[in-house]
Amino acid sequence: MKPKHKMMTAIPHEIQQAMYGFMMSHVLFAGDELGIFDGIAQGKASTIQELAQSAGVHPRALERLVLAAIAMGLIDQKDGVYQIPEHLRPFFQKNAAEYCGEAFSHFREVSTRTFPYLKEALRENQPQWAQIFSNAQDYSPFTELYKDSQRLENFLSSMWGMGYGPAKELVQKYSLDRYSTLVDVGGGSGSFAIAALEHYSTLNGIVFDLPKVSQYLENKRHEHKLSQRLAFVAGDFFQDELPTGDVYVLGYILSDWNREDGTKLLKKIYNALPAGGAILILEKLFNEGKNGPIETAMMNLAMLLETWGQHYAGSEYISWLQEIGFQNCQVLCSSGEKHMVVGIK
Ligand SMILES: C[S@@+](CC[C@H](N)C(=O)[O-])C[C@H]1O[C@@H](n2cnc3c(N)ncnc32)[C@H](O)[C@@H]1O
Repeated sequence: MKPKHKMMTAIPHEIQQAMYGFMMSHVLFAGDELGIFDGIAQGKASTIQELAQSAGVHPRALERLVLAAIAMGLIDQKDGVYQIPEHLRPFFQKNAAEYCGEAFSHFREVSTRTFPYLKEALRENQPQWAQIFSNAQDYSPFTELYKDSQRLENFLSSMWGMGYGPAKELVQKYSLDRYSTLVDVGGGSGSFAIAALEHYSTLNGIVFDLPKVSQYLENKRHEHKLSQRLAFVAGDFFQDELPTGDVYVLGYILSDWNREDGTKLLKKIYNALPAGGAILILEKLFNEGKNGPIETAMMNLAMLLETWGQHYAGSEYISWLQEIGFQNCQVLCSSGEKHMVVGIK
């Protein structure tokens, strides 16, 4: 005889993870923003009382956040003293080169607000920034994003956080020895240009981006002692002529725009390059079976909500470059999420 009711079983792990995932994001973002992870990582504070005092929050409430972080494996506790697990410590420590909190700021400030409009985006197949920014009429996702200087700074910090680490690896995987001027089109925080110039001492660079990016870039090139070799040129890559160079970079640009706009940019770069010149596309990539990685699949949704673009697999970029006329195309992967597709004119 069949049982009358289906047996209750525990909700499977994959579903549980997805259900609680948004809460975990907030634990990560708040813990970073309040300096909880950094305080523990740097040994500045290790008890709830000390942590609460330096963060200016209530100790009993903070205990709950810390318990959540412990359950997530972000914090360890031994004899009432908190520690960050060894392999995570540099990623939480604000004065370490590996610190990744900068990468959270755009997620925290913008994506947590656009994702609630996922159903609308699916129905309309349109971005949803008008839902979170008032008077958002412009075609460019960057117009609203850059109206507020703090939001601009957060966005560029996120770009730096996601870009500089992989760029340091990628500039070693593909030799730029034979090139003299690298133009980072929509180069933003300068993460790729700076990594390239630090590795190739005879290379000069130009970051070409919207005028509002100039101050952030100015600070970065000063910080990295590259003021003599790295210039900033303000302009609009759809409207204006590109600065002259023999290697052009498009980092997280093609994923912001539709196919037609992307093709316009690729053709513009192709026409600006001398024979033998290179294009370097930096993007998250789908694997060829399109069954992951999860970061690319999630950001492909974020691109739907926040831009006109999407993510592709490496072979799709190669076909696109070949349609424009580029040859000897290849994909070079970093150990992180941002990879490189190269084409030669
Ligand atoms: C997603 S960010 C990528 C930044 C950088 N390339 C990277 O990989 O981190 C896109 C960049 O394109 C720039 N941008 C957007 N529209 C532009 C335009 N019309 N002309 C020039 N730059 C533009 C933005 O200011 C921003 O820096």
